[in-house]
Order: sequence, then structure tokens, then C-alpha cells
Amino acid sequence: LDNGLALTPPMGWMSWERFRCLTDCKLYPNECISEELFRRHADLLVSEGYADAGYEYIIIDDCWLEKNRDNKTKKLVADKKRFPNGLNPLADHIHNIGLKFGLYQDYGTNTCAGFPGVIKHMQLDAQTFADWDVDYVKLDGCYANISDMAVGYPEFGRLLNATGRPMVYSCSWPAYQEDAGEMPDYTSLKQHCNLWRNWDDIDDSLESVAQIMDYFGKNQDRIQPHAGPGHWNDPDMLLLGNYGLSYDQSKLQMAIWSVMAAPLIMSNDLAVVRPEIKDILQNRKVIAVDQDELGIQGRRILSKNQIEVWSRPITPVVSNNQHSYAVAFVSRRADGAPYRIVFTLKELELHNTAGYDVQDLYDDKNHLGVFRPANQFITRVNPNGVTFYKFTAL
Ligand code: DGJ
Repeated sequence: LDNGLALTPPMGWMSWERFRCLTDCKLYPNECISEELFRRHADLLVSEGYADAGYEYIIIDDCWLEKNRDNKTKKLVADKKRFPNGLNPLADHIHNIGLKFGLYQDYGTNTCAGFPGVIKHMQLDAQTFADWDVDYVKLDGCYANISDMAVGYPEFGRLLNATGRPMVYSCSWPAYQEDAGEMPDYTSLKQHCNLWRNWDDIDDSLESVAQIMDYFGKNQDRIQPHAGPGHWNDPDMLLLGNYGLSYDQSKLQMAIWSVMAAPLIMSNDLAVVRPEIKDILQNRKVIAVDQDELGIQGRRILSKNQIEVWSRPITPVVSNNQHSYAVAFVSRRADGAPYRIVFTLKELELHNTAGYDVQDLYDDKNHLGVFRPANQFITRVNPNGVTFYKFTAL
């Protein structure tokens, strides 16, 4: 969507994967979907250094609404107990500390958790979002006719645009189509949305990460070409800092999401992220891969002995039009010792005759030197882990 926004994949924090639809603030005072949760996470995004690393959007997912619209005005109403001040003071706070504010809604009659959706009040809701100083809209697709989406999602996008307030527009429509066995129209998606969820929701496990990677790997020919500045594929939230991923698996998700030019939207409890996981989330070199200005999404280029190679063209591009590359080696092995594997640069599709200067993106001290197309490249990957390098074209 050419609205001047999301020229690199959006970065931020969203409630759903970690906090779901917890609405009982007596039982779960620190976890329930409430003004307090989002204020706290906005503050933590800044105080824990995430904002400096580029994380910017604080996004409320499902379960923020009252069960009914306002009787008279038909406007959406935030839950009166959990958001007693409405959303404006929260939006103000988020803006005052230099961040941006995102909000969830659903194209259908109801959100997935059963709160009122936009379908019969699209114009009113678009204006309400603008009045609440929203900067990012995630529009889900529960309780809707899939066949209406190709018209309805662009229509809501036009209404958002007509408010005059710039809002990033995140569409879930292809995920619902793919689930129903329909082929999304990526040309239309690119034109009407800044990002879109392609596939299933992420859960807190390596299996879930692997399932999403496999989906993107298998379908890359029809998905990968459509990513670029202003329009991104979205493989869903980052799990780092939660329960399901080990240290190595956390590096794996962060590396592959960066190769995929994915939005880096965390969903975790920022108050309890362990320092070594925070370092991964804030790794400037890995983030720079994700945010590379060319905006070319990477691909799974080969798999050998259960080591997958994922590669993304990035800057700098040298004079003979050779790209640099970020290359991730993912082990799908679980057989104990780190696995040593040898590739020729040709196998890795690295053809620049002048060669590449190679740096380990997870280890500043590991500068591997210059490799030319005739050379071999050796790496050693932990079980269910990743090694991740930048090949800077010379
Ligand atoms: C389905 C979406 O894909 C999730 O990301 C989340 O927004 C839930 N719905 C909320 O109900």
C-alpha cells in the first residue's frame, strides 16, 4: 500500500500470542488485557532499550472491546473496566514517549473472541480509529464471508485513508483464504495493505515456528516476490522471551524472520525477558538485515543433510550489480552434537568474483575473512539451531 508507511517491516509489540484473551484482572492483574498492560509494555519498550533498537508500535490485539457498541451512537466502546479512561489517554501516553499506537479489529460481524466487528459500521469505525489517534490497524477476518474479503478489505483501507490520518494497514485476509484453499490475489494485497498475515497463527513452540517456515519455504515462488517497501508478508509474531523456545531456537526464529523481511512484532512479557534473549531481540546486525532498505524477501535456497540454507539479498550492492547476502543455516537435526557441514560458495549461490567479506551476525568477534566463489564455506550448527552470516560483496 502506497501510503508512505512501513517502508521497512514494522517493528513493535503486540498482546495476542502471550496474553491472548485474559480478561480477568482480579485473577491475573499483571496479564489481563487492560490499559495497565499496554502502558507498562510501552514503558518497558523504552526503558529496556527496545525502542532504541527500532521497536516502535504498541498494538492492542483482540479482547479490548465492550460486548456491545454504544446504544445511541453505535460507536465502538473499549471495555469500561479494563480501559476505564477510553483509549485516548493510553494513545497519548504511547505517543508522549515516542512510540506509535496499534489497534485490532475484525472485518466480520465479530472478532474471533466474539466482540463486535466492523462490517456494518466501517466508516464510523475508521473515523473512530482516527479519533483515537491510532497509527496501525490489524484487521482480522473471523465471522466474515471469505468471498467478500477481496472487496471489503480494500474498502476499509480506503475509509482509513479518507480520515486523513496515516495508519499502517495490516490485513488478515489471505490467511483466511489460504485456509479455505483459495489463492490470495497478491497484486491486490500489495496495492491495498501494508502487511498481511499469510498463514496460521503462531503458538509458543518450535513446531509452530517450523510449520510456518515450511509454509513460506514451500510457497515461496508465489509469495516472496510480493514483499517490498510498503507491503510485507507477515509470518506472525516473535515468540522470544516466552516459554517455548530454547536459546538456540530463539536465535533461529529471529534469524529466519529477518531473512523473510518479516515484521518484528514481539509478543512476550517484557518485564521478564532474560538478558541473553533480550540480546537476541536487540541484536543490531540481525535487525539491520530485517530492515534492509532494498526490502527483498529471502528464500530457502537448499537443504542438505537436514541443514536448510535461507538467503536474503541485502545492501551493499557493488558496481557489477552483485548483492551482499544474509545467509542462515538452520539445523532441522536433533542428533546431539553440533553438525559440521561444508558448502561451496556456488552451492550458496554466491557468485561475485571479487568475493565476500564474511561476518558472523551472532558473534561480533567471529570475523571469518574473505571468501571467493571457488572457496568452501564451513559452518557448524547446533541441533534445532542456526548460524547466521553476512556475506558483504567486495
Ligand atoms: C486470529 C489472529 O490470526 C490472531 O493473530 C489474533 O488476532 C486472534 N485472531 C485474536 O482473536
